[in-house]
Amino acid sequence: MRSKEIYERGLKIIPKAAQTGLRSETHYPEPFIPETAYGCKIKDVDGNIYTDYHMAFGPIILGHNHPEVNEVVKEQIDKGVLFGAGMCELEVEVAEKLIELIPSAEMVNFVNSGTEATYHAIRLSRAYTGREKVVKFEGCYHGWHDYVAFNVNPPADKMGKIYPQSKGILKAAYDATLILPFNDSDAFKGLMAEHHDEIACVILEPIPHSVGAIIPTKEFLKTLRRETKTYGSLLIFDEIITAFRHNIHGVQEEFGVTPDITTIGKSMGNGYPIAAIVGKKEVMSMIHNGVLVSGTYSGHPSGLAATKKTIEIIERDNVIDYISKLGEEYRKALIDLIDDLNITARVIGYKSIFAIQFAEGEVKDYSSIVGIDKERFKRFAAEMRKRGVFFTPNPMKRCHLCLAHTENEMDEFLDAASEALKLV
Ligand SMILES: Cc1ncc(COP(=O)(O)O)c(C=O)c1O
Repeated sequence: MRSKEIYERGLKIIPKAAQTGLRSETHYPEPFIPETAYGCKIKDVDGNIYTDYHMAFGPIILGHNHPEVNEVVKEQIDKGVLFGAGMCELEVEVAEKLIELIPSAEMVNFVNSGTEATYHAIRLSRAYTGREKVVKFEGCYHGWHDYVAFNVNPPADKMGKIYPQSKGILKAAYDATLILPFNDSDAFKGLMAEHHDEIACVILEPIPHSVGAIIPTKEFLKTLRRETKTYGSLLIFDEIITAFRHNIHGVQEEFGVTPDITTIGKSMGNGYPIAAIVGKKEVMSMIHNGVLVSGTYSGHPSGLAATKKTIEIIERDNVIDYISKLGEEYRKALIDLIDDLNITARVIGYKSIFAIQFAEGEVKDYSSIVGIDKERFKRFAAEMRKRGVFFTPNPMKRCHLCLAHTENEMDEFLDAASEALKLV
């Protein structure tokens, strides 16, 4: 098996044989060494072909290796891979498009990853308000930097207290972070009443997909907006997963709440590295004007070319409608299957994202998720993989649909799931 050989070579010199932590889990139960990916299929070096629901943690919205996107990237790199000076027209074109689309966008700064985007958004909020503290919600992920690497998925006995996701985080970052349960307006109001003159910003995934899917109440989002406005703190929506995948204007449009700053990434470039901080002119104009934002590869022409084309296709082909409706069908069919099998499991999600969790009950916040049966999910993912269906065995994560998935893949998924669920 080439997969095993390559994995073992890698394991000696690459920590856990993965460049990013959660990818190491995708080696379970066998090494996963992908070689090619087209549409919704991914093939490994041993020739095994899987239908992919992982979609690289979400960016692939049009399908892997989309020919039209690749074409414009090739045209761009023929003109120049990286200029790294001044500003090219593509930066203006894509920024203009984002401002047209996203309600909170008045100015734009491009970076290469979501982590960079949330880092700068928070630093900007501190510079703008002259305050230091950040409010974040349990279950939300905003990248790996010290400002936010807390309480994404703490164990049950650590919930509600500051819980670092990593060793090596600055002590000062603990002190500057306030953790709250999602969807709890009263807890938020109480915190603001007590600490408002210290709070620089409130950051959240409007739909926390980093632990599957928690649907916000409109009332909660509106409370965040009202209170932050009252007390002069900035509201940051981290729409790295949700913008373009769920709504071309960001889910801020459908929930009717406009934040001060929005971070976007993932689906905007269909897999090319690109992210952005967008927001109010008054705040954004502090960038390069007192607030340091810097990056050799920021505004990379290949990512921008991919983004311009991806957005064009999303609009032209009604991609979001298609994948959202398909997601609804997957969820309905899976709920029926689970009912038929009479097992303890639930199906959660939103539009093109769905997740099966071995637990019961409504999902209101992270406390409804912490107790899911994790071992059972790992076995389920392994059985699905044996049947040609690939997603991460991480029980907190989710499946993503793309334009290339069809009802045929759904039927395959259901057949595989009906066998796998019986076995686990
Ligand atoms: C909501 C959210 N914010 C931020 C990030 C960090 O983005 P990146 O991995 O591009 O640094 C992620 C990545 O999964 C994310 O899901």
